[in-house]
Amino acid sequence: MSEIPFQRLLEGYWHLAAHRSEMPNPKDFLRIAWAAGELVLYNDQGSIVAFDNVCPHRGTRFFVDMAGNAPASCPYHGWTYRNGCLRIPTHHQSVVGEGAPPPQLNSFPTAWCGDFLFVSPRPEHSLEDQLGELAPRLAAIAEDIDGRRDLNAYDFECDWRVAVENALESDHIDLVHPESLAVLKLAPGRFEFAGVNSIWLTEVTDARSVRSLDAIGRYFDVRHAHRGYTNIFLFPFAMLSSTYGYSYSLQMFLPARTPGRTHFSSRLLGGRAQTPGNPVVESLMESSTRLNRQVFQEDHQICRRISPAYRIDAPGRLFAASEARLRSFNDTLRGLSG
Ligand code: FES
Ligand SMILES: [Fe+2]
Repeated sequence: MSEIPFQRLLEGYWHLAAHRSEMPNPKDFLRIAWAAGELVLYNDQGSIVAFDNVCPHRGTRFFVDMAGNAPASCPYHGWTYRNGCLRIPTHHQSVVGEGAPPPQLNSFPTAWCGDFLFVSPRPEHSLEDQLGELAPRLAAIAEDIDGRRDLNAYDFECDWRVAVENALESDHIDLVHPESLAVLKLAPGRFEFAGVNSIWLTEVTDARSVRSLDAIGRYFDVRHAHRGYTNIFLFPFAMLSSTYGYSYSLQMFLPARTPGRTHFSSRLLGGRAQTPGNPVVESLMESSTRLNRQVFQEDHQICRRISPAYRIDAPGRLFAASEARLRSFNDTLRGLSG
């Protein structure tokens, strides 16, 4: 088998990058590290643009914070992006030579599925083709989301496929997450597949958790949620999970340039509440933030214990029935490797 074509995965596929409510105001931005450098999403007077965070003049990064609200103005010599154009200060006007095209940001194609924004540097397929039957379901989930509550990013010390495989199976929950996720006592549930994407739908069986999750429902206006636990894998790098739809955790496992490292990020996207600022909802968002951060720390600890000597792309690896999503991911990668 030839090498996994990482460049093709990164450039040729659509990546779920944000929900519209994360950047509601002009000048809101979000910065994500990926193997191609950085990806910036920026609200340019109401339209969201995606670009590489590199000033075309001398290469300065426009943004260094993970998220915030600031003009896309280069701090070195002041080139500024606004209303779809790069504005160049008068003393640099001569940079644009006679008849030469005006300088542009290196922007990336974007596409929407409902209020979910996808980015792909050089898409090989339409977003509809890539999502298949998942598209209407994702668009419906997007309607239930109302803003970002947490943003957490750091590097996992493991190959990105190790991190994705970890997120695609639940057999490790009791051992790796005994005091966090295991408390919900998730049932085996069922798998669904939509092309290269996969879903795990299951029930919470811990009676105490079910009682409190049911009781919290009256504070939310979520219409498309599964009353249980949902985990959606959006091939190749993104995962969206939720309990009862009160919040969604969006995780990205992006390959880093350095082998054996993964740019991990997780976001907590809040479900639509009946009334803004409700203290029950606010405290649920805080506890979900803490719980998710703990779960991902636990996942990171086990992922970094996978030996670098282990051949994740070896032929003939064994998969249990409960690892059907992992097998599908593995088969897709092997298919792409030729
Ligand atoms: S490097 Fe950005 S304006 Fe000069
Ligand atoms: Fe886990």
